[in-house]
Parts: sequence; C-alpha cells; structure tokens
Amino acid sequence: MKKIFITGASRGLGLEFTKQYLKKGEIVIASCRKPEKADALKELEAKFPSKLNIVQLDVVNEQSRNAVFEKIEKDFGNIDILINNAGIISGNEKESSILGEIYKEDFSKVFLVNSIAPLLMSEKFLPLLEKSEGAKIINISSQNGSIASRNVGGKYSYAASKAALNMITKILSNDLRDQGITTIAIHPGWIKTDMGGSNAPLEIEEPISKIIDLTDRSGISESGKFLDREGNDVPW
Ligand SMILES: NC(=O)c1ccc[n+]([C@@H]2O[C@H](COP(=O)([O-])OP(=O)(O)OC[C@H]3O[C@@H](n4cnc5c(N)ncnc54)[C@H](OP(=O)(O)O)[C@@H]3O)[C@@H](O)[C@H]2O)c1
Repeated sequence: MKKIFITGASRGLGLEFTKQYLKKGEIVIASCRKPEKADALKELEAKFPSKLNIVQLDVVNEQSRNAVFEKIEKDFGNIDILINNAGIISGNEKESSILGEIYKEDFSKVFLVNSIAPLLMSEKFLPLLEKSEGAKIINISSQNGSIASRNVGGKYSYAASKAALNMITKILSNDLRDQGITTIAIHPGWIKTDMGGSNAPLEIEEPISKIIDLTDRSGISESGKFLDREGNDVPW
C-alpha cells in the first residue's frame, strides 16, 4: 500500500487523483485550502475512512506547509508519491494574457503557486520521500510550458510559470537522482475542469488513469523528463 500526497485535491485533477488512488487501495493524503468546504472530499472520506486523510494546506503558506509536514511525519512516517498538482491560471481577475494588460501582481502570484510552491513542497517533504524506496515527485505541468512548441501569443504568466516548473523539475531530478527519487513533469492534456473549461476535449477519468499508470511504470530512467500522459516526451 503506497502513501500518496496530493496538493489541490478539492476539485479538478487533484480530486480525481484522490478518487482513483483510493479505488486502487492506496492511502491518500489529500490536501486542500478549505477542508470545511471540500464536500466531494468529505463524501470520499465517508466511503474510505481508513484510507483517505484530508489535511488543510495552502501551498504558498510556510506555516501551513510546516504544520502538514509535522502531521504527516507523526501519522504516516513517510510518503511514496508527492503530486504537486495545485495550480492557478491567473493571480486575480485580471489575467496577464494580453500585451498592454500585464500585471506584476498576477505574474508574481502565478509563479508563486505554479512554480515556486512545487519546489518548496518538494524541499520540505524530501525527508519523508527519502524514507520510501523508489519515491516519486510528479509535477503537473502543461504543454503551455513548452517553449519549443509555443507558436501563439498570450497567456504570459501561466505559460512562463509552467516553463519555470519544467526547469525546476529537471534540476530537482539531478539533485535527487542519487537518493533514488524520480522527478517528472507531466502534461495531462486539456481536460474539462474549472480551469480547463467546458470546451476541453477530455473528460477527467481517462487522463488521470493514464497518469497514474505512467507514474507506476516510471522510475529513475524517466527522471527529469517532461512527458505527456501516454509517456511520450513533450518538447521542452
Ligand atoms: N485542466 C486542464 O486542462 C489542465 C491542462 C494542463 C495542466 N493543468 C494543470 O493541472 C493542475 C490542476 O488543474 P485543474 O484543471 O484541476 O484546476 P482547477 O479545477 O482550477 O483546480 C485547481 C486546484 O488547485 C488548488 N489551489 C489553487 N491554489 C492553491 C494554493 N495556493 N494552495 C493549495 N491549493 C491551491 C485549488 O484549490 P481551491 O479549491 O481552494 O481553489 C484547486 O483544488 C494545475 O496545475 C493545472 O495547471 C490543467
């Protein structure tokens, strides 16, 4: 039985990872900013009381990260897979998407949540990952972060934040390879969620199931890669 720690589990991809890992019989530590409002997680908790553990976590808040670390260390001792999933498309109602409408507050917040927080989470929880054999860090990236395939304008803050996350993934993989920890950036596809919107071509179940399979079969030889949900390389 593996211990899976997921950020941003209140809805969207994070909630689906939680559902599917629970169905596989794993122990899930599902973190979210407002557990009291996370109704879907609470329903799952009623179905899987011994497997699902809901914890409060705002990934950009140091005190919150420290408190969750202490709780997980005390209650579980180690983590097998950290899924850095929490993400935002914009930092406020004004998205830095169009030239002439670039806001430094938006840029800073998007980078904080999408790029810097996954690094801080990986750094903080490293001692618990080191206690597991073959531990993995899965950073949920996006094709928007692919510089090589960027052929349209716009989405400055989001796309740049995912490119930064990809670089952070690569550097982490170099730092953690000798400890046997695999670090991968994964593009999940364009999926119907609050972020993906209703025009997205993919329903949520299939891509998450594929990412779980990909995570299962990936090891140190995949570490430092930027992959799609099928396991194909995405151009950097
Ligand atoms: N959907 C797509 O098509 C798509 C495509 C490529 C990549 N992605 C990536 O996949 C990941 C999940 O996206 P999604 O579509 O599931 O988005 P979503 O439906 O908007 O959900 C985002 C999740 O992140 C959480 N979150 C945001 N800021 C947070 C913070 N500071 N601390 C903790 N949690 C925070 C949200 O929590 P609250 O409920 O508290 O707001 C929510 O649970 C993101 O990294 C996104 O960039 C999505």
